Amino acid sequence: MRTVLVTGGCGFIGSHCVRSLLAQSGWRVVNVDKLTYAGHVENLPGVTEGPAYRFVKGDIVDSALVAEVFREERPWGVINIAAESHVDRSILDAAPFLQTNVIGAHVLLEAAATYGPERFLHISTDEVYGDTDKGLPSDEQSPLRPSSPYAASKAAADLLCLAFVRTRGLPVMIARSSNNFGPFQYPEKLIPVLCRNALRGETLPVYGDGLQRRDWLYVGDNVSALLAILERGRPGAVYNVSAGQERTNLEVARAVCRGLAARAGEAPQRLLDRIQLVPDRPGHDRRYAMDAGRIRDELDWRPRVTFDEGLRETLEWYVSHQEWIGKVLAVDYDTYYDAVYSRSWQRLP
Ligand code: NAD
Ligand code: DAU
Repeated sequence: MRTVLVTGGCGFIGSHCVRSLLAQSGWRVVNVDKLTYAGHVENLPGVTEGPAYRFVKGDIVDSALVAEVFREERPWGVINIAAESHVDRSILDAAPFLQTNVIGAHVLLEAAATYGPERFLHISTDEVYGDTDKGLPSDEQSPLRPSSPYAASKAAADLLCLAFVRTRGLPVMIARSSNNFGPFQYPEKLIPVLCRNALRGETLPVYGDGLQRRDWLYVGDNVSALLAILERGRPGAVYNVSAGQERTNLEVARAVCRGLAARAGEAPQRLLDRIQLVPDRPGHDRRYAMDAGRIRDELDWRPRVTFDEGLRETLEWYVSHQEWIGKVLAVDYDTYYDAVYSRSWQRLP
């Protein structure tokens, strides 16, 4: 069995990645997760410790802990998924983003330089390219022009990874993915916020004019891309991962309303009327769009789930997992929600 050290395996994408590795034979997964507000063992129902799976509650910024895990496990591969991932939170307070996303990545790279895994996959984002509103879709050579503290921290980590490829010869690869959606996504991101609020009879907040465009990728397709890169990607290479499914935020909000209404056997107007335009996010990028030709050509990767299919599954999941929503939002969610949706951008207490 090959051991893969996954960081952030109790978050949204991380939990899908852990499940997918464990569903294939031949992998042992060691999951290091700090269990922040976004990390929950409830995201891995049915996954229990045993020969194929070990959970370590820990912070990737903690270099002693990370070195110990590398020493004990001698992983064949590393997938660094752990991050502070939410743009709005980074506007409220950038400090944890710099710690986890930059310093944490550095700690992992140093441990990898010492213990020599064969593969190291770092998870990045299309947000490092910044706004593509007026340009062509970004390819892997496009300049990095991050807009938010979150995106800046991810760009910094990407550059650090590439510096470790050049100076230390580390077999690092970078995946830059577009907006993921699917089950187990924490209700601070657009689609799960809309689901939660719709199910509670609250308003459905859409930022600014709602005409910003995002490129939606079903989480299962993202994970299949990540595992293809882990196994077959070129060390030192960056891969854009996108399904080319652009939608405006208003189109997404309306699709959520229509999907939930259809499931409940109701007319959609009652939900559509609850969409409310709220003041915009500061520095809000209008559009992200990437050229994913490299991963298609080199690794023969293709997304399988369309936006409509993925959304149907996602809505079904949120409607039937309202207990999960209650559990993961139990701590400090109201404080966060008030801080962001009051649009005063005061630091969280
Ligand atoms: P998430 O917020 O749902 O999960 C993050 C996980 O990392 C949580 O389990 C959390 O507990 C853990 N974590 C945070 N800080 C940690 C630390 N210091 N040490 C150990 N664990 C820590 O995030 P997500 O949406 O699943 O995103 C995962 C990765 O994918 C991130 O790197 C993000 O930048 C990237 N990404 C996300 C998307 C998206 O649409 N969600 C798109 C592109 C890239
Ligand atoms: O593009 C990849 C990125 O996608 C990832 O790197 C980030 O980790 C992930 O959080 C996500 O960032 P976004 O800012 O694009 O995601 P979010 O779900 O917060 O917002 C999607 C769009 O919807 C964005 O234009 C802002 C808007 N929005 C968001 C929320 C939460 C609203 O209009 N209303 C909302 O309530």
